[in-house]
Amino acid sequence: MKNKIEHSKFDVENIRKDFPILSRKVNEKQLVYFDNAATSQTPQVVIDAIVDYYSNYNANIHRGVHTLSQEATDKYETARQKIQEHFNAKERHEIIFTSGTTHSINLVANGFASILKPEDEIIVSALEHHSNIVPWQMLCEKTGAKLKVIPMNQSGELVMADFESILSNQTKLVFVNHISNALGTINPIETIIEMAHQVGAAVLIDGAQACPHIKPDVQALNVDFYVASAHKMCGPTGVGMLYGKEEWLNKLPPYQGGGEMIAEVTFEKTTYANLPHKFEAGTPNICGGIAFGTAIDYMNTIGFDTIATYEEELLVYATHKLLEIEGLKIYGTSKYKTSVISFNIENIHPYDIGTIVDKLGIAVRTGHHCAQPIMDFYNIPGTVRASFSFYNTKEEIDTFVNAVKRAAKMLT
Ligand code: ALA
Repeated sequence: MKNKIEHSKFDVENIRKDFPILSRKVNEKQLVYFDNAATSQTPQVVIDAIVDYYSNYNANIHRGVHTLSQEATDKYETARQKIQEHFNAKERHEIIFTSGTTHSINLVANGFASILKPEDEIIVSALEHHSNIVPWQMLCEKTGAKLKVIPMNQSGELVMADFESILSNQTKLVFVNHISNALGTINPIETIIEMAHQVGAAVLIDGAQACPHIKPDVQALNVDFYVASAHKMCGPTGVGMLYGKEEWLNKLPPYQGGGEMIAEVTFEKTTYANLPHKFEAGTPNICGGIAFGTAIDYMNTIGFDTIATYEEELLVYATHKLLEIEGLKIYGTSKYKTSVISFNIENIHPYDIGTIVDKLGIAVRTGHHCAQPIMDFYNIPGTVRASFSFYNTKEEIDTFVNAVKRAAKMLT
């Protein structure tokens, strides 16, 4: 994070008009939405895409010769292409539609159950969300493989020297988030991927928190798997993606059996469809997939460089303002972090602050943020987490800081 407060020329007031929800009131106050790390808000263009689907061409895909089915199939596959281009995947069939990041991770974990052996080791980081811990623990239970953890330091950064020492020829897989949901730390994934590949391990990067802020290039990263959710990047809930290198996706068995994922079925034997269909059993979230493509278009129209510059400005401004409050401590002070601020005020439970600021129309998340090991590390029950998006403003930050001050006064 830079130390000086910069002013960008970004026209946030105009951008805010794209989001109908931002003009609503909560508890008779103007809504201030600072829970973007949990889910982002939806621009009108994405809402329109959803309405258009159900109003004009709602039909099942890849199945019918009729016009509606063809139209829905074309739009769904166009969305896959948009995702491919956005993440710079080499092949369109390397993009698998899923219900979200958690589904994507479980799909890969399930696939490795038939590959791992008891002497194998897998590595996660201390900064992971539960969705990037529990599936791997379940995989270890099934296979006998061992789980190792890259530790973190007080700033909320991974201790890379310790990563080097736990990495060995026994390491088969490494799982790290691109950005921590609880602290906002941007992890050195380029180095992690390179080091893991040197011992022959595959790498999965959980990009759920990165994709709202950064445009990842999976080929430049040379990553084996990259996963994300649409609803963190202005899209709908219930849809996400898995990028996998073709060679890996061909190696892994299907996650679910059913329609769509087969080549031929007899009672004696079933053969599976080619990628990506092998991993897409059943009727998918067709509307969600199409709207995911629209959300990606929307974010690219604004531009990720513009988004990053403006959000950095919000982060710097809010950090300075919040640190003026007596007894306030920020968790996650890495030099490389995104627009997430997790904090507590001495002797006050985070839940109490969250409840009071909600009464003033402000949405933040409180609790362990599905990252209990991080809270254990700091020996705290949870934090108040304010997470900013490109449609937030410095005026909203002022309103929030005043509300936190008021809450602190009431609670001490
Ligand atoms: N993973 C989401 C969050 O961090 C839900 O809030």
